[in-house]
Amino acid sequence: MSFWQQLKKPFFVMAPMADVTDAAFRALVAKRGAPDVFWTEFVAADGLYHTREHRSDTGTTIYGSDSENPLMRDLTFDPAIERSIVGQIFGSNPETIAYAAKLVAELGFDGVDLNMGCPDRSVEKQGAGAAMIKTPEVAQAVIRAAKTAGLPVSVKTRVGYNKEILDEWLPAVLAAEPDAVTLHLRTRKEMSLVPARWELMPRVVALRDALSPETRIIGNGDVESVEQGRRLAEETGADGIMIGRGMFGNPWVFVGRTSEDTPLEEKLEALVELAHGFEALTPKKNFSILKKHIKAFVTGFSGAAELRALLMETNSAAELEQIIQSA
Ligand SMILES: Cc1cc2nc3c(=O)[nH]c(=O)nc-3n(C[C@H](O)[C@H](O)[C@H](O)COP(=O)(O)O)c2cc1C
Repeated sequence: MSFWQQLKKPFFVMAPMADVTDAAFRALVAKRGAPDVFWTEFVAADGLYHTREHRSDTGTTIYGSDSENPLMRDLTFDPAIERSIVGQIFGSNPETIAYAAKLVAELGFDGVDLNMGCPDRSVEKQGAGAAMIKTPEVAQAVIRAAKTAGLPVSVKTRVGYNKEILDEWLPAVLAAEPDAVTLHLRTRKEMSLVPARWELMPRVVALRDALSPETRIIGNGDVESVEQGRRLAEETGADGIMIGRGMFGNPWVFVGRTSEDTPLEEKLEALVELAHGFEALTPKKNFSILKKHIKAFVTGFSGAAELRALLMETNSAAELEQIIQSA
């Protein structure tokens, strides 16, 4: 039985987010209140495969801890605090997907997730991400390839490309019997510009019931709190709820706290911890990636705009900490 089937419903999961759910942010969330399932940022299956080919020429292997390889860095996690954890990969080539899924298994992840919803042009150009919605046979081949690694396989996708085509697309995905499917309840075209269409979820659940009853269904889009997620799961029949932007500035979201519940000192303390973790765990990443977290943590109190402006100029955790301490 896969770990997905052991989760108590409704379960809550972390959304995969590039340049957000890195090792430092996941550690912060783990310490403040873990979700049932952690997710990595997306990682290119082709990139993992080609880096490996290159290295195997020289007789070395990149497995495990090659900090020079940013793709491997993105697949680093702390098994003591991040459980269960799923590694997300993208790609449209079954061979590289099978390789990457095997690597994810060897690194000790609990599951592998296939990105079939990302609207990024560079991802779509490779036939991956949301472009998969236009090539259901390729999507099925990719799911089957990932399964050869022996880990539970999940898929994260949208309800259609230009328009909602759940009745065509979801059966194609379910035919390959993934262990879980996350539906971001918007089309590719809608990006994140319209409210998520939770009214579609009962139809998703009915298709699952008819076609692949063991597959867990996770709803995603605009969920801000556990309370709202519980209500949506109850109303729509989703097994689990994924929270993305609701984690910004609120690493307590999975224990039911809203941003307003948390005293300012705790938020600033969390930001300092995140900045130090970011430097320690993702040494080659640009410090400016933290700006979105600075915006999210430093808001809603008198003097927030001034403090935020100062923090936006910082280039190291030490500098950021010093400004916060003297504020
Ligand atoms: C900054 C950012 C990065 C994202 N990166 C990924 C990613 O790497 N993989 C993925 O499947 N979705 C990615 N997403 C989409 C989110 O996982 C999620 O589907 C979307 O934000 C909607 O959920 P929310 O309303 O709870 O934020 C990203 C979204 C944002 C805002």
